[in-house]
Amino acid sequence: MKVAIIGQGYVGLTISAFAGEHFDVIGFDNNKRIVDQLNSGKSHIEGVESSVLKQWISAGRYQATTDGRDIANVDLVVIAVPTPLSKDRKPDLGFIDAACKTIGENVSKPVLVINESTSFPGTLRNYIKPAIEKYSKDKIEHLYAISPERVDPGRSDFNQKNTPRLYSGLTPEASEKTRAFYSKFCDNLIEVSSPEVAESAKLFENTFRQVNIALVNEFAQIAHSLGISVYETLDAANTKPYGFMKFTPSAGVGGHCIPVDPTYLAAVAEEHGAPATFIRRANEVNLEMSKYVVDRVVADNDGSLAGKSVLVVGVAYKPNVADVRETAAELVIEHLRQRGAVVSWHDDVVGSWNGESSAPLSGADIAVVVTKHDDVKVREILDSAPYVFDTTGKVPGAKGL
Ligand SMILES: NC(=O)c1ccc[n+]([C@@H]2O[C@H](COP(=O)([O-])OP(=O)(O)OC[C@H]3O[C@@H](n4cnc5c(N)ncnc54)[C@H](O)[C@@H]3O)[C@@H](O)[C@H]2O)c1
Repeated sequence: MKVAIIGQGYVGLTISAFAGEHFDVIGFDNNKRIVDQLNSGKSHIEGVESSVLKQWISAGRYQATTDGRDIANVDLVVIAVPTPLSKDRKPDLGFIDAACKTIGENVSKPVLVINESTSFPGTLRNYIKPAIEKYSKDKIEHLYAISPERVDPGRSDFNQKNTPRLYSGLTPEASEKTRAFYSKFCDNLIEVSSPEVAESAKLFENTFRQVNIALVNEFAQIAHSLGISVYETLDAANTKPYGFMKFTPSAGVGGHCIPVDPTYLAAVAEEHGAPATFIRRANEVNLEMSKYVVDRVVADNDGSLAGKSVLVVGVAYKPNVADVRETAAELVIEHLRQRGAVVSWHDDVVGSWNGESSAPLSGADIAVVVTKHDDVKVREILDSAPYVFDTTGKVPGAKGL
C-alpha cells in the first residue's frame, strides 16, 4: 500500500517513520529545504532517528517531495499540517485548505483521507471533505476519517506504538480502513461514535492541561504573596492518592498545542452560543505569567532593569526540544526589553532564533531561567549571573516562583 503524508513536521515525519516499516511512504511537504534534507536521510525532528529514515530510503519505502503529482496513485492520505491561530487569535485553516487543494487536484482515485491535524469539531465533515471535493476536477468520492495526533516530541516513554489512539470515520468503511492502517503500528485503537467526538476529545485533552497550568500559575502568585513555597505546597497536596494531579508553575505555556488548541475550542463554543469564559481566562492567566515573572525580577533588583544585562536561559517552549513556537520566552524577553534591560539568551538546543544566536552562559547581571534543558548544569546557571530567577523549579539555590 502507498501512503502519502501531507506535512513532514513533528507529526507527519513521526508517522512516516512508523508507517515506513509497513508501507511505501511519500512525505509531501511544500518546504523544499526540509524535503531535500529528508531525501538525504537527515531527520529534523527529535524522536525520529536519521538512521530509520535512511533505512526506509534505501529500501525504497520513503521519499519526500514538493511535487503534488507524486501523490497521484497513493491508496491513503494523512493530513499533518499546522493549524495555528491567525493574528487576531482565531482558528486559521489556511494550511488545511492548501493540503486539501494538493489532495483534490492530484489524487486520481478514491482513497482514504485521514486528518491528524488538530482542529475544532466539524472540521473533517464540514471543511475537509467539501474542500477536497471542490478541488477535485473529477469529483472523486473519497473516504474520510479523523485520528487526532497525541505525539509528545522529545518523550521516550510514550510513542506511536503505545499511545492509545482515537479514531472515527465519516462512514463505517472509513472507520474500518483507518483501524486497519493504524493497527500496523499502534497497539491500542479506540473508535468513537463520530469524528466530532474525536476532534473534541483532542481539544479537551489540551484544554485540561491549559486550565490546570493556569490554575497552578495563579496559585504560584498566591503562594508567593503568602510567603510560602509553591513547590512544597504542591508536593504536600500531591501526597493525596486520589483526586489530585500535580501541575507545576512556569513562565507561561508554549508549543503548537496548549496555547492554541483551547482557543479552537473556545471559538467553536462561542460560535454555537456556549460560554468559554473559563478557557479564555486560563489563556490570559498563562499569557500574563511572563509579566509577573519580570515584575518579580524588577522588584528584586532595586525596581529597575535599565541598562542591566539580562540572560534568558532556555528559549525552547519545553526542555530538550528545539521548538520555539509560542514559547513563553518571547514574552519574557519582550517585557524585559520594555523595562530597559539589555537582553540576550542562551539555548544551544535552539541555536539561532529571531535573527539572534545563543549567547554564552556567563557574564550577565541577571539570569532568568525559562526552560532548563537536561544538559544545562545547575552550577553553570548559578554562576552565569549574581542574581538568578528560576521559573522551572529545577535550579535549587536560585530565586524563583
Ligand atoms: N507537535 C506536536 O507535538 C503535535 C501533537 C499533536 C498534534 N499536533 C498537531 O498536528 C498538526 C501538525 O503539527 P506539527 O507540529 O507536525 O507541525 P510542523 O510545523 O512541525 O509541521 C508541519 C509541516 O507541514 C508543512 N506544510 C505546511 N503547509 C503545507 C502544505 N500545504 N502542504 C504540505 N506541507 C505543508 C510545513 O512545511 C511543515 O514541515 C497541527 O495541527 C498540530 O496542532 C502537533
